[in-house]
Amino acid sequence: MMDLSTTYLGLNLKNPLVASASPMSKKVERAQRLEEAGIAAIVMYSLFEEQIIHESLELDHFLTRGENSAEAMNYLPDSGTYAMTPGKYLDHLSLLKKTLTIPVIGSLNGVSKGGWVRYARFMQDAGADALELNLYYLPTDPALSAADVEDAQAELVAEVKAGISIPLAVKLSPYYTSLPSVAKRLVEAGADGLVLFNRFYQPDFDLDELEVVHNLDLSTSADLRLPLRWISILSGQIKADFALTSGIHTAQDALKAMMAGAKVAMMASNLLHNGERVVATMLNELGWWMETHEYKSIQQMQGSMSRTSVAEPAAFERANYMRVLNSWKELR
Ligand SMILES: Cc1cc2nc3c(=O)[nH]c(=O)nc-3n(C[C@H](O)[C@H](O)[C@H](O)COP(=O)(O)O)c2cc1C
Repeated sequence: MMDLSTTYLGLNLKNPLVASASPMSKKVERAQRLEEAGIAAIVMYSLFEEQIIHESLELDHFLTRGENSAEAMNYLPDSGTYAMTPGKYLDHLSLLKKTLTIPVIGSLNGVSKGGWVRYARFMQDAGADALELNLYYLPTDPALSAADVEDAQAELVAEVKAGISIPLAVKLSPYYTSLPSVAKRLVEAGADGLVLFNRFYQPDFDLDELEVVHNLDLSTSADLRLPLRWISILSGQIKADFALTSGIHTAQDALKAMMAGAKVAMMASNLLHNGERVVATMLNELGWWMETHEYKSIQQMQGSMSRTSVAEPAAFERANYMRVLNSWKELR
């Protein structure tokens, strides 16, 4: 019998497959089906800073003017998962906790320090086993330097951490000038884990309507390469638990994540596209692959292909760039 267990943020998980933040956690029955299929933990969809601020603006407006604020309403979607009020989010979190036996990780999504950060504590009080802070941010102001952005993010992480006693993971984008330095700083600020990476949703143009259009494309296994490389580079150097998110679609993808040094392999697109049944298939394939390749446990393979473990660390570095470009000629 293969040992598929792993640990993440101090939680003992029966295997490394985790449902990452997505509408999969919106319905309790769906979360239950994920648990039955074998998923080891669930990250809830995010509660956004904007939702929290919006509600307090509304309340303020109601108390001072006795009516709803139209302006405060118009930057939030008026239906769907992300229209849920902060209170309902917390109720849903505590319902998930009561119904499921696997760990439930709450998710806060925001970028600026402020009163909204108290919701980290509220999530803890609602029963969250850990918290994920998603720092999705896109600087567009040329006056804002990389140092300004990184300072603000480190301060926010420290503020969130100060309010809770449960473990904290921080979900990052890949777009930093020096990711290793940012990762180190965020861990020093209090992050127990790093979740790599956020997928950035790129707007497109509709040439007929001359409008900017937003399509949410699901990932494929090709999206795995970016987090795989970075977890390989960082996992041997930064003392934090790494979660890989983006492009986990097969057991092989999850195995690669483990070898890079991730503690868990998170999935959203695969579950949204194929449903929870893929979990059981992937777990079977994981076990089968390990048996065939004589691995006894997942923990045995974690980090075995990190940059500090492989025979050729240059494969992750600039040195490999020219070789890859040259390999194209060799093919012809
Ligand atoms: C429909 C949808 C909703 C998502 N909602 C959230 C969210 O609320 N918070 C968050 O941190 N990530 C969210 N994500 C990002 C996923 O958690 C995940 O990081 C990303 O999709 C990459 O993983 P994948 O390749 O398995 O899809 C969402 C993704 C999708 C497709």
